[in-house]
Amino acid sequence: MARSESVYVCQSCGDVHAKWAGRCDSCGSWNTLQEEASSEAPLSSQAGVRKRTTRRSRLELVDLGSATEDPARLQTGIAEFDRVVGGGLVPGSAILVGGDPGIGKSTLLLQAVARLAYAGAKAVYVSGEEAADQVRRRARRLGLSDAAVALAAETSLETVLDGLKAEQPDIVIIDSIQTLWSDQLAAAPGTVAQVRACSQELVRFAKKRNTAVILVGHVTKEGQIAGPRVVEHMVDTVLYFEGERAHQFRILRAVKNRFGPTDEIGVFEMADIGLREVANPSALFLDGRGEAASGAAVFAGMEGTRPVLTEIQALVAPAAFGTPRRAVVGWDNGRLAMVLAVLEARCGLGFGGRDVYLNVAGGLKISEPAADLAVAAALVSSHFDTPLPADGVVFGEIALSGDVRPVGRADARLKEAAKLGFKSALTPAGAEDSALRVTGFSTVQALVRHLD
Ligand code: TYD
Ligand code: MG
Repeated sequence: MARSESVYVCQSCGDVHAKWAGRCDSCGSWNTLQEEASSEAPLSSQAGVRKRTTRRSRLELVDLGSATEDPARLQTGIAEFDRVVGGGLVPGSAILVGGDPGIGKSTLLLQAVARLAYAGAKAVYVSGEEAADQVRRRARRLGLSDAAVALAAETSLETVLDGLKAEQPDIVIIDSIQTLWSDQLAAAPGTVAQVRACSQELVRFAKKRNTAVILVGHVTKEGQIAGPRVVEHMVDTVLYFEGERAHQFRILRAVKNRFGPTDEIGVFEMADIGLREVANPSALFLDGRGEAASGAAVFAGMEGTRPVLTEIQALVAPAAFGTPRRAVVGWDNGRLAMVLAVLEARCGLGFGGRDVYLNVAGGLKISEPAADLAVAAALVSSHFDTPLPADGVVFGEIALSGDVRPVGRADARLKEAAKLGFKSALTPAGAEDSALRVTGFSTVQALVRHLD
């Protein structure tokens, strides 16, 4: 029955193709098809999985209205972590934590699981990347040696599952999913077939045994979890742990969560004794701000439920030669093009022969449209070479017409600014605050006149 032909499996979406192609028809990614012997292909692996579960049983029907109490969440006591997962880990849920190698995933999860163990949860940490001794040494350095975490250095899925069934833990960390392999498949560890099959079994284990399972996944250069995107679809929660290696701080971000909001972030600082929570990220992001320089604007943003202030820096400079450069770090390229176009078309500012650089200080990535006005203010300030008031914040959305639109949570943004000692704000018309001098704008033209 075994065929020896090859199939080509997309390493991004996991789709199986009979022929090699430069581009995957299913997900559109380039250069992701990899040859695998068809006996190792996911299709046959699924057949293998199915074989074990074809024992027919009666479909069990329950009433929709007979829900039991929500289970108590497992809280680590690390507030930045618990908030991002929606108020603690839900028993029986599967969580994927992705991030660049070396960003601090193992450190964060070891700290989290140790805190759960201190609180009485039964915890298992399976390391496929490091030897048990290495993990133990790290635990000692973090001052967590006395935590009752059962540790295993193992890469065989079957061995891990057998052990977990015997142990019946409340929480399991699998570090990392790419090192795990199942002997049901001939494919190498880390391939799409293995990652998918192992994740599937572990997610099934989580649901069946009511254990919270955290899978650690490495991220490729393109910023995707190596192996199949399908793992993201299998789990309940996907968290990304990100940050610049050069900076001390790290951000834990929920990108999918069946049990909580997806716009929350948790901010940590990498210290020599592990990750420290940063309860007041604005202070961190604004740390080291010097004298008011032209091109810098403080954006009063929201990250989930929490206001976060960051500095947006713009530099408008004569283009050296040829096509002027547009370089953006921490914001959307297309959005910058739009703000520039509005400033050109509605306010007559010329950026044609000039390079434009935009940087969100500290390495935070901003996705809110509310940053438009702060970006515009930074660009205009650099263009005229006049600094914005050092004690002011900016926020507001800009429409293509040049209108400045109100944004959500203006009150929370202004309160945070006042708390951090700011004295004034440039906002959409209609915002008010008792502690700040608020100047409202209904058009971007009015902002340019104000700054000129
Ligand atoms: P690690 O958790 O191993 O990253 P990942 O699991 O995402 O690959 O963290 C690795 C980096 O963190 C490493 O470069 C050293 C640094 N680090 C500290 O700065 N302080 C610490 O207390 C620890 C444990 C690690
Ligand atoms: Mg690691």
